[in-house]
Amino acid sequence: MSNKEKDWSNLGFSYQPIAKRFVATFKDGQWDEGKLVDDPNITISESAGVLQYAQTCFEGLKAKYSKEGNLVVFRPELNAKRMYDTCEKLCIPPVPVELFLKAVGEVVKANPESVPPYGSGASLYIRPFVFGSGPVIGVAPSSEYTFRVFGTPVGPYFKGGLKPIKLMVSEFDRAAPRGTGHVKAGLNYAMSIYAGQLAHSRGFNENMFLDAQTRTFVEETGGANFLFVTKDGKIVTPKSPSILPSITRISLVTVAKDILHLEIEERPVLFTELEDFVECALCGTAAVISPVGMVHSDEKDIFFPTGMEQPGPITQKLYDTLTGIQMEEIPAPEGWIRIIK
Ligand code: PLP
Ligand code: COI
Repeated sequence: MSNKEKDWSNLGFSYQPIAKRFVATFKDGQWDEGKLVDDPNITISESAGVLQYAQTCFEGLKAKYSKEGNLVVFRPELNAKRMYDTCEKLCIPPVPVELFLKAVGEVVKANPESVPPYGSGASLYIRPFVFGSGPVIGVAPSSEYTFRVFGTPVGPYFKGGLKPIKLMVSEFDRAAPRGTGHVKAGLNYAMSIYAGQLAHSRGFNENMFLDAQTRTFVEETGGANFLFVTKDGKIVTPKSPSILPSITRISLVTVAKDILHLEIEERPVLFTELEDFVECALCGTAAVISPVGMVHSDEKDIFFPTGMEQPGPITQKLYDTLTGIQMEEIPAPEGWIRIIK
């Protein structure tokens, strides 16, 4: 079935296997060139480093058909670089940037029927990941590694798309100071599942995590960075050594400064400042830009003046400009759009 014949309108953020995925192996001190395969299943040693000591990391990016009819991916070299840095932190032989980019390109090209058409609002979410596949039993790096890239068609990460969500301040910490919060290690997400389930069971969409050392600064959620807007229209985004450097956030800083000519501050943000902000949103590949309507903490509930029905005006402007760039509706800064041919 071609991509035009499928129903893309009711997709959420879930896994659906598609035809082809990419696999490369690290053995005898080097990465092989990798290839496309059909099988979504993996057979590995019961003592593989990933199974015993969680030696794994991942990335996330989206492929789309643009207004120009191109198959496009947004700044994949930044994901490649971030995976390289994450691998180094986890003692995984880094996946070469060129191998990462080749794998992403091949997966997109091999699955055109699974890339949602322009205007559908959906995307092909690409998930590169690498894991210790060789056996270990003492705590040590694995001797062999597997790098894979699969795709899955997705709609919005939060149901309702641009409808504001509700957050809860977590009593748990996502990342320790001098830990792994700044890299995309699987273990950071393992840590967040208990807190995430608790938030859902209490009726919240996600957690707001505070800094683990002082619990006074805003860090991020389990899967996205924060943006706030001040009363005088300035954008503020938290800076911390233990948050993931979001490619969406880094791009929005440029969009805000150079395209929308808004003032933007990247700095530590105190939780007590929240009441002074007029807009709050999350940003990330999966979340795109998700407006936040309220944040619950044990002391008080903070309601942003933009309410629970629609995004604030600056959040909407950022969303329209970024998604416009990503879909080749608005000219992109040099090098932001990779056309897959
Ligand atoms: N923060 C965390 C913890 C994430 O998992 C993600 C998603 O990758 C982000 C932020 C957003 O990063 P990006 O914009 O690069 O997708
Ligand atoms: C992404 O935005 O790509 C992420 O990796 C977030 C993830 C927790 C779904």
